[in-house]
Formats: sequence, structure tokens, C-alpha cells
Amino acid sequence: MNICRILNGMWQVSGGHGRIDSTAAVKSMFHYFDAGFTTWDLADIYGPAEDLMGDFRRQLLALRGKAAVDSLQIFTKWVPQPTKMTKKLVEDNINKSLSRMGVKCIDLLQFHWWDYSNSNYLDALRYLSELQKEGKIKHLALTNFDTERLKIIHEAGIKIVSNQVQFSIIDRRPEVRMIPFCQQHDIKLLTYGTLCGGLLSEKYLGKPEPKSGELTNISLKKYKNMVDNWGGWQLFQELLTVLQQIGNKHNVSIANVAVRYILDKPAVAGVILGARLGLSEHLQDNAKTFEFNLDADDVGKIDAISKKSQDLFRTIGDCGDEYR
Ligand SMILES: NC(=O)c1ccc[n+]([C@@H]2O[C@H](COP(=O)([O-])OP(=O)(O)OC[C@H]3O[C@@H](n4cnc5c(N)ncnc54)[C@H](OP(=O)(O)O)[C@@H]3O)[C@@H](O)[C@H]2O)c1
Repeated sequence: MNICRILNGMWQVSGGHGRIDSTAAVKSMFHYFDAGFTTWDLADIYGPAEDLMGDFRRQLLALRGKAAVDSLQIFTKWVPQPTKMTKKLVEDNINKSLSRMGVKCIDLLQFHWWDYSNSNYLDALRYLSELQKEGKIKHLALTNFDTERLKIIHEAGIKIVSNQVQFSIIDRRPEVRMIPFCQQHDIKLLTYGTLCGGLLSEKYLGKPEPKSGELTNISLKKYKNMVDNWGGWQLFQELLTVLQQIGNKHNVSIANVAVRYILDKPAVAGVILGARLGLSEHLQDNAKTFEFNLDADDVGKIDAISKKSQDLFRTIGDCGDEYR
């Protein structure tokens, strides 16, 4: 499957990121489409995300025709409560997503599981594989799985194409175990948190440390917490300064450098950037990510800052452990 390597993330429509107006949101989805950002990341639990996608697809079909709709790649997630899994339960939930988005087949279904002490996740994945054979799912994927469980799933013979994990210059945990395993077994990573909710941008360079109340959405609060665990605001300012210097050299933004750095990591297929649809857009700027390359000197400067930070693998654990 071919994708746009910068994906549009729809967690931001689920609340806590400003009031989303559905008409303005769908209008904004056309802007993403026209700028070439055709790949979307949703979840059953992201508020109205799947319904907005359904509206967008219907309008796109009416205005631009079938070829336009066929050029989209729509990824969603299934995030069940960790209970006993039956084929009916799994199928009912997949049918719900199909119907909300108005599609016959889900391009990529990413499965999340909250509790590894409950091993029913293997049953869920077996039923999802059956639905894949029946044509309801094109590719089967995971989100927030750690390497240990990914290995168990792989050894159970379930074909997984990707795992969606937090990965940024700040949170480099996937480098420890996940990337080597993925490289060995041809599994790709889709990353989130790569811009730390927008903290990795000029907006926060040279600014005093924001208090929690000054951070205007839950994404910023979540990743500020990550920055605190990583090394704190002073080190973060050092990082932003270096990223700006590198950006100036290539005539691009801090965000471009932060995304390019992760896109260039082994096993990474794409970076998901959160989209506050109808409220803010960074389309032109993000498109510049595809127009330059980081050289060894740039990478060395970024890695030198990382070396001064805390080891988040040691303090938090492997990918997804923050959810458990
Ligand atoms: N699987 C999971 O558990 C999980 C968890 C979190 C997220 N995700 C997925 O990943 C997506 C990404 O979300 P995230 O919360 O991690 O946020 P993020 O992508 O790190 O940050 C998104 C924010 O960055 C800012 N931004 C984007 N491009 C920019 C640019 N060129 N210059 C400056 N600022 C820019 C925007 O802020 P403003 O809008 O304020 O301008 C945007 O809202 C989500 O929508 C979701 O699809 C998945």
C-alpha cells in the first residue's frame, strides 16, 4: 500500500483541542486532500472522527468522483475493553466502523489492547484475521503494542504490517527494542507525538516554561509531561535552538526538522501529525518536510542533545507502557 508519509491525525477532533465545527472540519479535509495529504489516521474512540470521514468521502465522491475517493487511505483503530472476545463482538465493532466511514473495507485496522494480563488479545486478532480474509480489512496492524507482545503475535502466525507508537526526538523508546524487531520482520512503524502536540515549533522557542493552565489543549499537556520526564524545559530550549539552527540552514521550520528526523529512522513508514480541523492548518509548512534532507552533521547535533536527556525506556518502559 502506498501512503502519504505525513498522515493526518484525527484524535484532535475528539475533544480537548478546541471546539470542532463539523462543516468547517470537512471543508478543511478538502484542503488536506488538495495539498496531497491523502492518508488519515482515525479511531473508533476519536469522537466524531469516523463520521466526519464518512461525510468527507460522500462529498468528495459527489464533487470529484470515484477516482478521488479511491486515492484516499483511511486508517482506523479498534480499542475494545479487554473482555472475552467472540467473533460476533469483533465483527459488530468492525461493521460499525465500516458503516460510519461509508467504506466496504478498512484500509488499515490498528488494534489496541489495554491489559496484557488478559491474553484475549490473541483471540481478537485471530477474529480480525478472519475478517481480513472475508474482505472487511485490507491490512491488519497494531497500536501501542510493546515488543514482547508483538513477538508473541508474530509467533502466533498473525500477519501484522505496522505498529503505531509514540516516537519523537524527545521520546526515542522505539529505538531500543521495537525498531530492531520491526526491521527483522518487515513491520513498519507509524508514529505519533512527533511534534509533541506542537511544542516542537518556533512558538515555544525562547519562551518561559508554560504552566499547565497556559497549555491550551490536552495534547500539549500530555507532551509537556513527557518533556519534563525527558530532561526539562531548559534542555528543551537547547534542543529547540539547535533545531532552529538546522532549520535555518535548510530554509525550513523546526517542525520540518523534527518530522524529517523521525521519517528517516529505520522501519518508520509515516509520521502522523495531529490536525485541529477547521481551527488550524500547517499544510504548506509540513509539505516542506519532503523537500530537504538532514546531513550527518545535523543528525549529530540532535543526537548530542538527546545524550543529555533521561532514558525514557528505563523510566517509562517499552512502547505503549504509559497506557498500562
Ligand atoms: N495511538 C495512540 O495512542 C495515539 C496517541 C496520540 C495520538 N495519536 C495519533 O497521532 C496524531 C497526532 O497527534 P499528537 O497528539 O501526537 O500531536 P502532534 O502531531 O505531535 O501535534 C499536532 C499539533 O502540532 C502542531 N503543528 C502541526 N504542524 C505544525 C507545523 N508545521 N508547525 C508548527 N506546529 C505544527 C499543531 O498545533 P496547532 O493546531 O495548535 O497549531 C497540531 O495540532 C493524532 O491525531 C492521532 O491520530 C495516536
